[in-house]
Amino acid sequence: MAPLSSFLKMVLQKTQKINRLRSLGIVTAGATALLAGLTAYNNQDHLFGTFVMPAIRLLPAEASHNLAVLACKYRLYPASEQMDDLNLHSTFFGRLISNPIGIAAGFDKNAEAVIGLKDLGFGFIEVGSVTPLPQPGNPKPRVFRLSEDRAIINRYGFNSDGHQLVAERLREFRQREDFNAVVGVNLGRNRDSLTPISDYVQGVLELGPVADYLVVNVSSPNTKGLRDMQCKKELTTLLEAVTRARTELKTNPKVPILLKISPDLALDDLKDIVAVINTKQCRVDGLIVSNTTVARENISASKLANETGGLSGEPLRQRSTELIAQMYALTKGRVPIIGVGGVASGHDAFEKIEAGASFVQIYTALVYEGPDLVDRIKEDLSQQLNERGFKNVRDAVGSNHLQYLP
Ligand SMILES: Cc1cc2nc3c(=O)[nH]c(=O)nc-3n(C[C@H](O)[C@H](O)[C@H](O)COP(=O)(O)O)c2cc1C
Repeated sequence: MAPLSSFLKMVLQKTQKINRLRSLGIVTAGATALLAGLTAYNNQDHLFGTFVMPAIRLLPAEASHNLAVLACKYRLYPASEQMDDLNLHSTFFGRLISNPIGIAAGFDKNAEAVIGLKDLGFGFIEVGSVTPLPQPGNPKPRVFRLSEDRAIINRYGFNSDGHQLVAERLREFRQREDFNAVVGVNLGRNRDSLTPISDYVQGVLELGPVADYLVVNVSSPNTKGLRDMQCKKELTTLLEAVTRARTELKTNPKVPILLKISPDLALDDLKDIVAVINTKQCRVDGLIVSNTTVARENISASKLANETGGLSGEPLRQRSTELIAQMYALTKGRVPIIGVGGVASGHDAFEKIEAGASFVQIYTALVYEGPDLVDRIKEDLSQQLNERGFKNVRDAVGSNHLQYLP
């Protein structure tokens, strides 16, 4: 019961920050429903899915996000009991993982929920984005569910506890005996930073020692000027600086550095990026394709569609798969890609892999489908690989990328 009571305390602390009385009522009701569901239906996953998840979804988007993070933090979700099929086993930048499905950045922004996320069956976990100094992000409301479209628009604007606290949490996790997760840290920059490049350098120095991989995120649409850092000149300076900083690390000096890119780039931009990462002094170990989009294609004419921010989920799926195929072709399959954008099934994951992704991340679909989705995706993916005669997921990477080129 100890985790439950501290969980309740945390929920109350969080809700105190929400000053509107209405939100407080809704959040409390949701938390009560969640706890009632968890208590009454412990170990009954189907009831969890039909009772608790819909209750969480009744809350405003950000409140339900906070609650889901807390539920993971206190390990209140039923842990997956599924053994990953052998055909899903893979090597992730030198580490063995039992499946190639990860949780994308933005869910666990502050590395609070790592153990609970591992329980859900993810093969790897990405936390962040983390900024050097703590910052609150944009004013609320800043997350919107477009349920009809199975999509989300967010403009969180890098709300972050900052490097120091996140590094401390990760250090603590790593000291635990039961800690065996692969955890990457996604790096952002402070909104008002006058020296954005040194924000990333600082990220490498402070979080490199406690990360299994780092991500240079210059593709979130909610921080002014951030995406301009994907331009050739700026990207060159940035990647030179971060890869040089890595050589200064005393602990973990080989931590892989990945670059996360936007789906709103044109072919010439992609060619520029590949030219940069092909140079020795800017060589990254992998790419994450892609972040959210500012485009508003493939969505219904809902009022929320006009909200400013990055769109994720189903409307992003095809563009992100095309971009994976483009980057796979431009890099000649030499740079490992984590594919992300609109994955909601094993079939979607398989498409990303056929297009050139070695690993796949999910976020938005989890909001609509609940934590069981991780097991379902893995099961489906394993079956798809069998049906198509692939002995292992690695053999399928890029196997049909030409079909996905735009
Ligand atoms: C609410 C929300 C917050 C996000 N925050 C971040 C972030 O802080 N850093 C980042 O690199 N990506 C962030 N993302 C983008 C996701 O990591 C992912 O690239 C994108 O949502 C596409 O995947 P999906 O369609 O499966 O959600 C965020 C996405 C959502 C929905």
